This record gives sequence, C-alpha cells and structure tokens, in this order.
Amino acid sequence: MNYLKKISLKRKKIFIIGGLGLIGEETSKALYQLGGNIYVLDNNFPKKYKNKKFFKKNGINFVNFDCSNLTYLEKNFKTILSQYGCPDIFINCSYPRSNDWLKNSFKEIKLISLKKNIESNLISQSWLAKIVAESMVKYKSKNSDKSIIFVGSIYGLLGQDLSLYKNTKMRENMTYSIIKGGITNFTRQMASFYGRYNIRVNILVPGAINGPVAGLATKQSKIFINNFLKKNPMKKLGKPSDVAGAAIFLSSEISTYITGSTIIIDGGWTII
Ligand SMILES: NC(=O)c1ccc[n+]([C@@H]2O[C@H](COP(=O)([O-])OP(=O)(O)OC[C@H]3O[C@@H](n4cnc5c(N)ncnc54)[C@H](O)[C@@H]3O)[C@@H](O)[C@H]2O)c1
Repeated sequence: MNYLKKISLKRKKIFIIGGLGLIGEETSKALYQLGGNIYVLDNNFPKKYKNKKFFKKNGINFVNFDCSNLTYLEKNFKTILSQYGCPDIFINCSYPRSNDWLKNSFKEIKLISLKKNIESNLISQSWLAKIVAESMVKYKSKNSDKSIIFVGSIYGLLGQDLSLYKNTKMRENMTYSIIKGGITNFTRQMASFYGRYNIRVNILVPGAINGPVAGLATKQSKIFINNFLKKNPMKKLGKPSDVAGAAIFLSSEISTYITGSTIIIDGGWTII
C-alpha cells in the first residue's frame, strides 16, 4: 500500500463553503498543499487579501456565494455546480449568524433570531449537502471515493459549560446547541443513506480554537482562557491547523471506510 499516494488530493475537486474563515482558510490551504483543486465559496472577502489575485496565485479559486439566502440557495448552488462541476470533496466551514448572535442566550433570545439563524445555518448546511450528495450520485465514476465533511462543535454533543463564561462578556447560546446537535445527527442520517453510493459523510467536532469569538472582533479573553484551561486535559486551546489536519484525513483516501463519524478535536474536553 502506498500511503503517500493515498493521502494525496491530486485531481480531487474540493468545494469549501466558508473557506475564508478561521478554520476554513487553514483547511483550504492545507488541502491545497496536498494537491487539491480548491474552490472556496464564501460571501465575504477579508481586506487582508486585498484582491482575488492572492487566491489565484496560490491556486485557490474564489466563488462568491451566500449560503444564508435561502430563496435562491438551490438555484445559486446548482449554477455553481454546473459551472465548476461536481466536487469529490465538499466541506462546509461556514458560520452564518445574525447581527444579534450574541443575544441568543435563554434570557435574551428573540424567536425571530432563532428562526433566522436556524435557516441560514442548519437548513442551508443540510440542504446544500443533500444537493451535493445527489450530484455526486449522478456524476461519480465507479468506486471513486467521495467525502462530505461538516463542521460541528463539542456543543453539539454536550450542554455548554457555564463556568467558562464566568466574569466574561460571553454567554451560553441556545441556538448554537440546536444547530450543532442537529447537524451532528444529520451526519449519521446522510452517512446511512449515501453509504451505498460510496459517499462518506463525517463531521469534525472542534473544541475551543484560539481566535476571534463568534460575533466579536476580539479573541477569547484571558479570563475565559483561564477558566477553560482549568478543565482541558491538554491545558491548551486548539489551533485551526488541528482542525485542518483532521480535514485532510477525512478528505483523503486514507479514511475510505470511515463514515458517519464524529471526529473530536478538543484536547480531551469531552472525555471528562
Ligand atoms: N472557532 C472556534 O473556536 C470553533 C469551535 C468549534 C466549532 N467551530 C465551528 O467551526 C466552523 C467555522 O468557524 P470559524 O471559527 O472558522 O468561523 P469564522 O466566522 O471565522 O468563519 C466563517 C466563514 O463563513 C463565512 N460565511 C459567513 N456567512 C456566510 C454566508 N452567508 N455565505 C457564505 N459564507 C459565509 C464567513 O465569511 C467566514 O469565511 C463553524 O461551524 C463553527 O461553529 C468553531
């Protein structure tokens, strides 16, 4: 068995929704290094890249795509599929959220916000994955490995630990648990159905990753980090590259018999 050949992503077309975010960008770069033909589908183009030449220069194709626009979601995504072809690997790293995302705690949440976030996140992710899986069924060559990868969270497996937010501005988020719990079991449901077509469906489950807090421009505060470290067996936050490494594993043919799995990347948080 030639394992170097197996881990290579040469000739693999890879779509990464939200491929410009904290986890998505590192994942895009990692999969590109292994030879993948990368298409980043995102609705935001951070100023740091100045222009799309950055991606062209690095072999990454950028496609403007808004996954929160449910009215045109199917039409827009199918147009992209017909323009660029069906991917071998489909990863959703997007994190659409409403402006009042930080007010999704039990005490502050409004019904309209719950609905909006579930639509733009859980519904868009599951619907896009279904469309891409059907396209994979239609276009895949015999015995070729196809992989769909979701990005969940430890809070799709557990309730949020309120002690982490003590003396910080962060709060528990009711909507997040619904979205993450939903997508985690949807992974199993899709894996169960599409296994017969050699389409694997798995979910990466990160714990706390060092970087900006969702909905805030700032990183995790020192207080949060100290609260977190007290309870994390490895006594450190994760890095985007820790998630990207697991994405390499699930994308490549090294993992061809793995489907319906939750790959937990949390420094041991969920084991205690
Ligand atoms: N960062 C963490 O600590 C952490 C921990 C656990 C799980 N996660 C999960 O990882 C995933 C990625 O998180 P992140 O921290 O990289 O988020 P991020 O906010 O850094 O990146 C999200 C990406 O999604 C894109 N996006 C947002 N709305 C979009 C839309 N409507 N259409 C298309 N693209 C859109 C953004 O432009 C951005 O590129 C999320 O599912 C998140 O829940 C993150």
